[in-house]
Order: sequence, then C-alpha cells, then structure tokens
Amino acid sequence: GAAKPVIVAIDGPSGTGKSSTSRAVAAQLGLSYLDTGAQYRAITWWMVTNGIDIEDPSAIAAVAGKPEIVSGTDPSGPTITVDGVDVAAPIRTQEVTSQVSAVSAVPEVRARITELQRSIATSAEHGIVVEGRDIGTTVLPDADLKIFLTASPEARAARRSGELKGADVHSTREALLKRDAADSSRKTSPLAKADDAVEVDTTELTLQQVIECVVTLVEEKRAAQ
Ligand code: DC
Repeated sequence: GAAKPVIVAIDGPSGTGKSSTSRAVAAQLGLSYLDTGAQYRAITWWMVTNGIDIEDPSAIAAVAGKPEIVSGTDPSGPTITVDGVDVAAPIRTQEVTSQVSAVSAVPEVRARITELQRSIATSAEHGIVVEGRDIGTTVLPDADLKIFLTASPEARAARRSGELKGADVHSTREALLKRDAADSSRKTSPLAKADDAVEVDTTELTLQQVIECVVTLVEEKRAAQ
C-alpha cells in the first residue's frame, strides 16, 4: 500500500544550508516542502508595507490576523503570496531581513503562523519537509524525524555572503549573529534543538553530503515504521 506520510522537521540558524537541503530532500523523496522563514518574512513585508510601527509589539499584535498568507509547497517551485500578491522577491530585501526578528517575536504573530504551518503539514498527502527555527520543538513536536543543522559562524557568514553576491563577509557575519541572538533569546518558541533531534554539523560538509545524510535518515525512519 501507499507509504504513510512522513513529516520531517529541519531547524537551525541561518547559513547552515537549511533551505537548500530541505528543498532537495523533499524533491528527492517526493514530499512537499514548507519554508516557514518565508512566512515570517511575508507577514513582516505586509507590516512594513502597511506602515505598522515595527517597534510597537501591540501594534503588530493588533493586526497579526489580517494578511492572508498562502504558501505553495512544491519543492521544484515553492511560492508565497500575501493577499494574492506574489512576494517571493520583496521578502528577501535587506529591509525585511532586518525587521523580521522583531515581528516574529510577537506571540500573536507566532500563534497565527504556527496554526497555518500545522494545517499545511497535516494536509500534505505524501508527507512534507518543514524548515524553520521551532518546528521540532513547537510546531510539529510529533514529527517523524527532527534534524538540527549547525555550522561555525565563519562558515555560515561565508555561505550567506556568497548568496548575497559579494556582500562583505565581516558585516554579513555581524548581521547574521545579531539575528541569531535575537531569534534564540526571544520568549516565545526561540530557535532551539529539540531533545530528540539529530544534530548535523555542516561546517566541513558539502551541500550534497548534507542532502545525502538527511535522505538516509528519512529512509531509515520510513523503513522502521
Ligand atoms: O530562515 P529565514 O532566514 O528566512 O527566517 C527569517 C526569520 O524568520 C528568522 O530571522 C527568524 C524567523 N523565523 C522564526 O522565528 N521561526 C521560524 N520557524 C522560521 C523563521
């Protein structure tokens, strides 16, 4: 018969290859793919676009339920819209990136986005790879497999500045460490490794090696089920 849908949670800080790994693993195994960071970026984009004061958590909380965020979960072409507008490009700007930690720390924002993530994950017919910061700890604590990706700060900054096409490694490193510190120290479901997550240090690994490692872990889980 058909295999039981498998739910894979992949967490970790930025620059660990989380998105590239998650997408490739989902594509190889025929699973759906959800980038939860894109959802936090999308709600942040909406707040910025609508002139909401990002410094004021109560102002953010008051409108957290307003934007309609829709994620397309095909790993060969994930999509994200807010109120029907394609925001795939604008959510990657420096402006959104610098505000996203503040918006995603607001409990009403997390409650809203977490509910959306759970409904997407449980309706994925063949299973799903969900990547983020709090997937294994908070969003999907019963996931079949939890992975926590890490890498040295130097490796993460080098990868990020490569992605940003020639951005200065030093300033990228500072911005990235600042965002990680904010994401790790917030009160509501901070970036954290679940007790039952498998930690994979990617510092010395190529992307291909990380993908193979995670695919093997998923296949082992499926065989054991
Ligand atoms: O993965 P990313 O860099 O696109 O994530 C953007 C921000 O969203 C990140 O700084 C923290 C937040 N985020 C979160 O709080 N919880 C998640 N599950 C995913 C992302």
